[in-house]
Amino acid sequence: MAGSAVGLGNAWKFPTMVGNNGGSAFIVLYLLLTFGIAFVAFLAELSIGRLGGTDPVHSFEKLAPKNKNRWSLAGFFMIGAILIASFYMLVIGWILKYVFLSFSSLPNTTEEAGAMFGSLISNEFFNSFLCFTSVFCMVFFVVSKGIKSGIERLNVWMMPSLFILLIVMLAYSVSYTDGFIQAAKFLFIPDLCKITPDVVLSALGLAFFSLSMGVCVIPTYAASLSDGTNLVKSTLSIIFINILVGIMMGLVVFTFVFAYGADTTQAGPGLIFVSLATLFAKMGFVGNVLAVAFFISLLFAGVTSAVSMIEPFTFYLINKFKISRKLALTYIGVFVYILGILCIVSFYEPTSFTILNKSFFDILDYFTSNILMPIGAIVFSYFVGFILKKESLYILFGNFMNKLIFECWYFSLRYIVPIAILAIALYQILK
Ligand code: PFF
Repeated sequence: MAGSAVGLGNAWKFPTMVGNNGGSAFIVLYLLLTFGIAFVAFLAELSIGRLGGTDPVHSFEKLAPKNKNRWSLAGFFMIGAILIASFYMLVIGWILKYVFLSFSSLPNTTEEAGAMFGSLISNEFFNSFLCFTSVFCMVFFVVSKGIKSGIERLNVWMMPSLFILLIVMLAYSVSYTDGFIQAAKFLFIPDLCKITPDVVLSALGLAFFSLSMGVCVIPTYAASLSDGTNLVKSTLSIIFINILVGIMMGLVVFTFVFAYGADTTQAGPGLIFVSLATLFAKMGFVGNVLAVAFFISLLFAGVTSAVSMIEPFTFYLINKFKISRKLALTYIGVFVYILGILCIVSFYEPTSFTILNKSFFDILDYFTSNILMPIGAIVFSYFVGFILKKESLYILFGNFMNKLIFECWYFSLRYIVPIAILAIALYQILK
């Protein structure tokens, strides 16, 4: 689950959003929302998987036998994960391209870097296509091996490697004392006036996205946890690792950005593929080594998350139609591949198109992070808070939290979480 949670959300969205929304004030808000809302809802998602014990649709059916048809629909929020997979693997594809570039020559000026990245997405159809296809094959190959011998094996070596690479980069960035201090100030001294209602929704969207919530990934993974697993401790560890990686990434990225006087408000691709790529080039050979480490760590983080997006639907198709894992993956693969190619086509200049002034990529990103995931989280919280029996939940969590904490969690799940998510989401829609 930590492998699923830690991904491009931490490495790419987190530093970008921190940069765009005034630094540390955003982090404080993100922490409040993570602990106040996402944590409570995360435990609810875990309980669906633990008590249901199978794929999302069948878990909902099993847990709500009286209204099984209606509740089984909630399991289809897993389609959100498939939608995310399509554009997410495209970004991993760009990262793969930069891993190769890091071995040779990175752009020397931000203009050159901007032009290079711009050309990759809007003029080099074949390159984008090739990188996306390679990542696609890698991810589907891992999922085809199953949870234990594919996904778990991959996570078990990729996650520690990611950590080691990050620690090495962090240690190196400390040697840029001024830049490092500025980065730490930027990330840790709050500027509360920067927090607007818009920023609140984005932070909530990020909290859900970065914990892989609202799209049935957590219930699916939870279904294969062993009985004795301490759910509360595991959730706290996942949240902790997730935030730690986000902050470590933020420190590394902003140290270099400040040390070389680049722009902190650059957006996602700009920050990673333009500012950072140029900074690495300026450092000479060490820069190349760091760039390889950096882009490989992003690649690892991304791949472990991408595999988790494919698993829920695969598990469902296998159970529902009694088909092989390979066949299930073929159906899903066709769908994801077409969406991914549409993202590439929508960026590629000769065929580019927009919907409501947004690229197809942005539409998928906005729709999943800001609409599907929060709604999914409300539905799952409502289900656990109002449909599941309180006693079954107490049996599940009673060993890991005392009665008072359990009652607070339950109250917050029923009343605070759905209302808070709804209020924030409605404000955004109606404003
Ligand atoms: N949590 C992942 C990240 O931070 O990059 C993204 C993610 C994974 C979103 C799995 C949704 C999902 F189902």
